[in-house]
Amino acid sequence: MVLQNGTRNDKDYSDRPVIFLEKKTLTEEIFASDRRVDQRRLAKDFVSALLELKTHHHLVIVEETGISEPSTDDRLNTLLLESGIDLSNTSEHRTGKDKSTLDGYSTVTQIEQFSLRHGIPAERRLLIQAGTKVSIFSDQRDLGTGTFLPEMLALCFHTYNDLVSWILSHPTPYKNLLEGIRAGAEVIREGALVVLPTETVYGLGADATNPTAVEKIFTAKKRPFYDPLIVHVSDTKQMLPLVTEFSEKAKALTTHFWPGPLTIVLPKSSLVPSIVTAGSPSVAIRMPSNPLALELIRLSERPIAAPSANLFGCTSPTTARHVQQQLGGTYDAIIDGGACIVGIESTVISFLGETPRILRPGGIDQQAIEACIGKVLSDRQDNPEDSTTSPGMLPSHYATSTPLRIVENPSNYASRIDVGVLLFGKCEEDFLGPVEYLSPSSDPTEAAKRLYQAMRNLDSLSLSLIVVKLLPETGIGIAVNNRLRKAANNFSGASEK
Ligand code: TXA
Ligand code: MG
Repeated sequence: MVLQNGTRNDKDYSDRPVIFLEKKTLTEEIFASDRRVDQRRLAKDFVSALLELKTHHHLVIVEETGISEPSTDDRLNTLLLESGIDLSNTSEHRTGKDKSTLDGYSTVTQIEQFSLRHGIPAERRLLIQAGTKVSIFSDQRDLGTGTFLPEMLALCFHTYNDLVSWILSHPTPYKNLLEGIRAGAEVIREGALVVLPTETVYGLGADATNPTAVEKIFTAKKRPFYDPLIVHVSDTKQMLPLVTEFSEKAKALTTHFWPGPLTIVLPKSSLVPSIVTAGSPSVAIRMPSNPLALELIRLSERPIAAPSANLFGCTSPTTARHVQQQLGGTYDAIIDGGACIVGIESTVISFLGETPRILRPGGIDQQAIEACIGKVLSDRQDNPEDSTTSPGMLPSHYATSTPLRIVENPSNYASRIDVGVLLFGKCEEDFLGPVEYLSPSSDPTEAAKRLYQAMRNLDSLSLSLIVVKLLPETGIGIAVNNRLRKAANNFSGASEK
């Protein structure tokens, strides 16, 4: 049933969860002519996702906001109608006298109004927006006290396929997530392993104060004991007992960038077991910004040691599925929080020397750091070969199983059906082999977010070789290139598969 504006809707929404579709952003994304090279595939994936979801959920479109009349752009409705997808519309109640009261209402307000009218409880509401983004809602009164999570939580996905799987496996999404976090916190306290989403990559976490628990991380990852772990905290207060010094510059950086993709290395206190730091007198600490990670740390009441949740030396995971594929069976709980929004690891910066030194480029670039605390050193510029300052910073890492090569001109491989091509931006060339675009709009931030997923996609195709063109060497592009170079180093001297 497609409702015309002004038609009263007497449908019963109480039996199933309701998915709201934000018409404005979805229309912009799906019908953008210049942005995406894979436009048709995106529209197709979107329609297949809704066809699958509509058997379990009601679908309601949220009209354009901030205008006095509903949008006249009906391309999205037409696409869905033609695909056999029934839609209701939040603007059904723009009738009679109360029409003007809806002018300028935000998407969330419209969802609230519609839900109140039709008795849809918060926990059964979902919102899909552009960027394969899903927001879930809660009524804090239902959740009880003792949670710091916001009432509305946004999750992102790499694909519509991932989005559908997540929605179908979380029938009461907010409650399911919170229960998962509470159970995960219990697992951490018991000394076992939990896979947790962070904004950078997924982590494999254990109680950082429990050496036996931490040892399990090394075993699961097949990680050598000389490679120290990052300890994750939910606030600065939790960090202070773990260190013996906290310099003014370190303080300034954490004030500015925490929670977020920044790890600081400071002298450790005796509370940190030596297995965490690989025997080093310093400890790496970070406060992630992912609200699910923060809530897990907070509820477990322990600092959590967590490396990226991949086998040692391999590509890092940015979805729970990536972790399951590689480490399935080695951990006791997994929290599926969708795709990581930064997509590459945190920047690691050491405060042990006179001048702070970046040991690993990452989610926060050198320029932003220097704008905050002045000149810092970086291994890239000042000491490129030295891996002794950070024992885990090995020259080869993040590797695919397919040989990966950095090339100047990927077009040279256009006729090779057995070669996968990883490109930063749009390219007119017709490649015979599979192509992954990190960012069709040449946005380095988007490229970072998609990097590991794209590497994994190509790696799963049994190709002889993956060729990559590096990003411009600025901002987060430096961190992306660092990962690509290390992945390629793994195969330096090796021939194609
Ligand atoms: O974004 C991230 O940092 C992710 C998420 C899960 O938080 N974690 C992560 O951990 O990338 P991992 O173990 O894959 O990489 C941590 C790096 C290692 O290369 C290690 O050598 C370095 O941090 N590191 C840890 N402790 C250190 C220390 N005390 N001194 C110097 N480097 C250290
Ligand atoms: Mg790692």
